[in-house]
Amino acid sequence: MVLNRFNTITSKLGNWLIKQPASAVGIDIGSSCVKAAEISFSNGQKELRAAGVLDLPKNVTEEGFITNPQALTEVIRQLLINSGIVSREVVVAVSGRLVFVREVMLPVMNQAEIKEAIKWDMEKYVPYEPGSYYYDFAVVGPGNNELEIKVLLVAAPHELVNTLVNCIKQADCRPIAVDIEPLAIYRSLSDAESAMIIDIGSHVSQLMLFQGASPAVSRFIPIGGLSFTEVIMRTLEIDYAEAERLKQCHTGQNPDFEGEQLLIYQQIDLLVDELAREVRRTVEYYQVQNREAIFDKLYLTGGGAKLTNLPQHIAAKLGGVPVLLHNPLTAVTLSPGIDTDYLQDMALQFALSIGLAMRGGKP
Ligand SMILES: Nc1ncnc2c1ncn2[C@@H]1O[C@H](COP(=O)(O)OP(=O)(O)OP(=O)(O)O)[C@@H](O)[C@H]1O
Ligand SMILES: [Mg+2]
Repeated sequence: MVLNRFNTITSKLGNWLIKQPASAVGIDIGSSCVKAAEISFSNGQKELRAAGVLDLPKNVTEEGFITNPQALTEVIRQLLINSGIVSREVVVAVSGRLVFVREVMLPVMNQAEIKEAIKWDMEKYVPYEPGSYYYDFAVVGPGNNELEIKVLLVAAPHELVNTLVNCIKQADCRPIAVDIEPLAIYRSLSDAESAMIIDIGSHVSQLMLFQGASPAVSRFIPIGGLSFTEVIMRTLEIDYAEAERLKQCHTGQNPDFEGEQLLIYQQIDLLVDELAREVRRTVEYYQVQNREAIFDKLYLTGGGAKLTNLPQHIAAKLGGVPVLLHNPLTAVTLSPGIDTDYLQDMALQFALSIGLAMRGGKP
């Protein structure tokens, strides 16, 4: 097992690394591209040394599953070289619908008792065949009364984790931890105690609710940057490349548009409606069981969140909740020689890789 493989996932105890590396690389394997960020750790500082992106060929990953490991290995190898990343100590995340993340309430008990209780109870919670998955847990807070504690459970199928770890090794890297996306994103946020965040990727968006220092809920919404591009393709009857180009220099949504522009506005508005509805629904559902829970802001991250005016557009549907673009660069210092213009432009896409790389340092 790679450092106990899944035991490294949620451990907040900080002693899971055999030795703290001088620097670590967070690798975010998305559906459209792979992002990598290298952070060095010295004098308690987390310094972003290098970062880069490389597109993935089609059909290499699908909903968090790696369908073409050889191609992925090659992209990772090339990306590290192109980006000038020198460390080969890698932190990655398992992702997609097959990753199980849930809070459960247990009676107050000590760590050894929790471990034993979860070992016997795990099958009750997870949707996998017995013995076919890794799992881990962390106590994340008190329960609804003094007799309970809140425990975060995480599990993922062996195959998903093993394939990922093998790709990293094949790319001549050393996997030092396997994480989950909500925890990595949380690390890259400086003000997330009662925050919500939507990572708008290319194919899907992941909505995460945080309470305290823990991801309370994570759910996928089948809308991403590609959905916006497809609206433009359909409306203007143009190909993907042209629609993508237009989207990226789009001047924002405006209800005063006319003609085709208005049609695009109306269809993107439907997608934004759906995102906002999912946020409201998820919060309401969580608050049924956790009446004291409040979520006071919504961050947007991921490349899809670069659509001009998207924060204002979502905010208008959420009635008063501040909607902000996440800036993961505030969680690190920048290496003197680094290209800051490039980083500012790409910051929304580097949140996950930065949060993953930060896992390599002392918590
Ligand atoms: N300037 C821009 N304006 C609008 N959208 C943009 C811009 N730049 C990139 N995007 C969109 O960002 C998306 C890619 O984002 P990201 O890199 O976060 O996705 P991913 O991580 O590969 O996907 P996923 O998380 O779904 O697996 C694409 O849909 C792309 O069109
Ligand atoms: Mg992504």
